[in-house]
Amino acid sequence: MKIILLGAPGAGKGTQAEVISGHLGIPTISTGNCLREAVRTGSPLGIKAKEDMDRGRLVPDEVVIGVVKDRIAMDDCKKGYILDGFPRTVAQAQALDAMGVEIDRVIDLEVADETIKRRLSGRRVCEGCGASYHLDYKAPKQEGICDLCGKALVIRKDDEPATVQDRLNVYHQQTEPVKAYYSAKGVLRQVEGQEKVEDTSALVLKALEA
Ligand code: AP5
Repeated sequence: MKIILLGAPGAGKGTQAEVISGHLGIPTISTGNCLREAVRTGSPLGIKAKEDMDRGRLVPDEVVIGVVKDRIAMDDCKKGYILDGFPRTVAQAQALDAMGVEIDRVIDLEVADETIKRRLSGRRVCEGCGASYHLDYKAPKQEGICDLCGKALVIRKDDEPATVQDRLNVYHQQTEPVKAYYSAKGVLRQVEGQEKVEDTSALVLKALEA
């Protein structure tokens, strides 16, 4: 099954992708994680992407499309995959079509901007493996330390309040039109993403079956 997770920054795409991946046994492709890893290792891709990411702007379409094209060609994607954070523009959605990719379901996680701002102020990520936590909703066992690899938890640079507002503006202007693109294809399902994580997961899994 090929699935897209749409939604504002902090809507819970990464959180729900983990649940779906466990449920269906297919990998998650997070363009945000791919780009952050490229920034961390200082690769040419990372150098190109860093400034846009830090400012909450989108990385140019051709850069991200190249990342996704290479990733979905890998062996572990043969049975399907979950795209988290891609496509984010209509041009990216059209590029997927041009690659011959047939998407089965697009899940749009609906969360109000005010909730997003509260959520992202509590997010902490591992500087080692990138695992995501939340001070209130998904606290690590030991404060400030990753459960998985023992490295320190930090605030993502683009989770600063002013940058979160910029990311929300970008989302409303450039990514919301992607919903209409998939609605016209009949594969879009909207899911209320304001519930507790496990309640949202139940709604997401139901929407995948519908
Ligand atoms: P990316 O990493 O994709 O960031 P994002 O879309 O802004 O998404 P987030 O990772 O912030 O949030 P999420 O929806 O995954 O929520 P999460 O599950 O973590 O992209 C970063 C940057 O890379 C972009 O700004 C751009 O520059 C670039 N980029 C990436 N893709 C691109 C593309 N296709 N084109 C161009 N540029 C691109 O949850 C958030 C927090 O809330 C967590 O702490 C979590 O524990 C908590 N939480 C989750 N669900 C709930 C819930 N139901 N209740 C309470 N808390 C919850």
